Amino acid sequence: MEIKAETETYPLYLGSGLLARAGAILREEGLTGKVLVVTNPTVGAFYLAVVVKALAEAGFDVQTVTIPDGEVYKRLDQLTKVYDAAVVGCLERDSTILALGGGVIGDLAGFAAATYLRGVRLVQVPTSLLAQVDSSIGGKVAVNHREGKNLIGSFYQPSVVLSDLEVLTTLNEREFKTGLAEIIKVGLIGDCTLDAFLRQHSTAVRRREPEALLEIIARACAFKAQVVTEDVREKGRRAILNYGHTIGHALEAETGYTVYRHGEAVAIGMAAAAAISVELGLATPELSRATLEVLTLYELPTTIAGIPAEQLLARMAWDKKVKNGRLRLVLSPRVGDVLVKDDVPPELILAVLRRMGAA
Ligand SMILES: NC(=O)c1ccc[n+]([C@@H]2O[C@H](COP(=O)([O-])OP(=O)(O)OC[C@H]3O[C@@H](n4cnc5c(N)ncnc54)[C@H](O)[C@@H]3O)[C@@H](O)[C@H]2O)c1
Ligand SMILES: [Zn+2]
Repeated sequence: MEIKAETETYPLYLGSGLLARAGAILREEGLTGKVLVVTNPTVGAFYLAVVVKALAEAGFDVQTVTIPDGEVYKRLDQLTKVYDAAVVGCLERDSTILALGGGVIGDLAGFAAATYLRGVRLVQVPTSLLAQVDSSIGGKVAVNHREGKNLIGSFYQPSVVLSDLEVLTTLNEREFKTGLAEIIKVGLIGDCTLDAFLRQHSTAVRRREPEALLEIIARACAFKAQVVTEDVREKGRRAILNYGHTIGHALEAETGYTVYRHGEAVAIGMAAAAAISVELGLATPELSRATLEVLTLYELPTTIAGIPAEQLLARMAWDKKVKNGRLRLVLSPRVGDVLVKDDVPPELILAVLRRMGAA
């Protein structure tokens, strides 16, 4: 797949056995010289050796740096470790930083690549389902600040993305499902064929059968690529990708990022967005039914267990403050379509949240 971002275009490879071919592919894509591989101990234990071997065999000068596993390590002091490794390894402007891991490693290594020497080459090798369909595409890179997620970041496009389906076999069930939530989102906001596939082939998807995974990942990547191409710097259309996210982010933040995986919070957020759309008369109750149906098929949560609705609304308002405007919600008139509203009455949002179990 070719992904266009402003003046640049970069290839996304999607298939099985790509890690072992990483060196050859990067050569074909014109990369040479030094590669600094950034990973974490979990992913590294499975895949670092095969990637390092593949790169070395293709003539790359390979170095590695390992960041502890977890969202809490997506922060400045760990970024410093990557810069230190880059200095020690004498990376040059045409050198490459390769992110081998989920979205945490992708975002952190991506920000390092964007800033070290004002930019070295970046290769994304996403290993979680979420990273394959979401964070590795679109060029957003960042680390967290203690006051908020992704506050320090940039837009920086990779030179190559390598998504190997085989790595998904070692992903635990919960992480797999969190990635599925983003794929379900794409079906709900814009790709009816994907939505239908997810409903018809849930057994194959949940068994992680390669053909089923290829179909849904390729569709989700193509959709995201198309949206970000139209709006590289997130000024407009890209907002539709935030379907389910305003409420999802509020849930994650309100529970200190310890209760919900991102996709779980987004699943609840999508159930809420559908209910709000119905309540506003923008959609028929069929939208809520169909949304709950597909989320339940994949055992994703759709209720809010006792979290105070007022607090969630306040968190959503914080989002609003950051964006310097009114509270904008991505809603939906029907499966496969979205619209953005900035005049939803807060009482209506509170009522929906309470109906979903919020206190
Ligand atoms: N840049 C973007 O556009 C964008 C978009 C969405 C999310 N994000 C960011 O992505 C992050 C979330 O990404 P994530 O869900 O991948 O989390 P993650 O990177 O923490 O990975 C989830 C867990 O799975 C493990 N893992 C990853 N691949 C594995 C594999 N193949 N086998 C076994 N274990 C594996 C990781 O070690 C980790 O424990 C967040 O920080 C979020 O802000 C960024
Ligand atoms: Zn998301």
